Amino acid sequence: MRTAYRTKLGRLIHGKAEEAFGTLRRYEGKVDLVFTSPPFPLNRKKKYGNLQGQAYIDWLADFAPKLRALLKPRGSIVMEVGNAWEPGRPVMSTLSLRALLSFLDTGRLVLCQQFIYNNPSRLPGPAQWVTVERIRVKDSYSHLWWMSPRDRPKATNRRILQPYSVAMERLFKTRKYNSGARPSEHHIGKTSFFRRHKGAIPSNVITLANTENASSYMKYCRENKLTPHPARMPVGLAEFFINFLTKPGDLVLDPFAGSNTTGAAAEALKRHWISIESDKVYVDGSYGRFVKDA
Ligand SMILES: C[S@@+](CC[C@H](N)C(=O)[O-])C[C@H]1O[C@@H](n2cnc3c(N)ncnc32)[C@H](O)[C@@H]1O
Repeated sequence: MRTAYRTKLGRLIHGKAEEAFGTLRRYEGKVDLVFTSPPFPLNRKKKYGNLQGQAYIDWLADFAPKLRALLKPRGSIVMEVGNAWEPGRPVMSTLSLRALLSFLDTGRLVLCQQFIYNNPSRLPGPAQWVTVERIRVKDSYSHLWWMSPRDRPKATNRRILQPYSVAMERLFKTRKYNSGARPSEHHIGKTSFFRRHKGAIPSNVITLANTENASSYMKYCRENKLTPHPARMPVGLAEFFINFLTKPGDLVLDPFAGSNTTGAAAEALKRHWISIESDKVYVDGSYGRFVKDA
């Protein structure tokens, strides 16, 4: 267990999260956001090795009370988990769902909201079912589960407003639309739609392409002959939740940091951060995210 590197606002610990928690006691009650993508519950072993079945569920659930203890009372945990399939069968695994329920119970947490991260540039897969037999469609999203000890953790969607759509901009100009009742039972008033705010409120489906080939991270990995992390998330995804659930000066923790996307996003947004990663190659590569003009 050692600090692999420090930046102005954070540090990356090289080691296993379960062991690193012992050294993090002084942060109890101080973390604003845990943002992480744990090793996925694959039913076959991936490069970084995963537990399987009930062992995975128990392993993940064991983190819940530990992470809860680190959180501020109005802090949040956001966990990204991808879809998994039963080995050799065109059938989805429910392991991640069972892991979520067990994590919520063990940590005495509530599920504040579910998000979908849709990656339109994902290659068609699982290949056998999607491109060979053509009996399933492309699997292009992962889940993000936003959890907290409280029903009302610190959050504001005012910090994550998005540009208005072309259709909405047209509406602002023409000021023509049908007011009244909608099939959804929403009632649209005569003027409510014309009020321009600072941007549109985002939905819980986040669409971002994960194409990072030209980034300083990839360049650094290439130049130092380090294998890039195979399951990186886009920086924009981490930025979305960091902006939504924390403010500058807050503390963000990622116990399964991989290429340290979370730390890099936190640093750029002026939040303090602590990341933990067990694989030395990914630790070394992640430093590239902080090297200017790598
Ligand atoms: C899905 S990846 C995270 C990817 C990351 N979000 C990114 O954008 O690069 C999960 C990471 O957890 C690491 N890992 C697995 N078990 C761990 C443990 N016990 N403690 C710390 N890290 C672990 C793996 O090496 C892997 O890099």
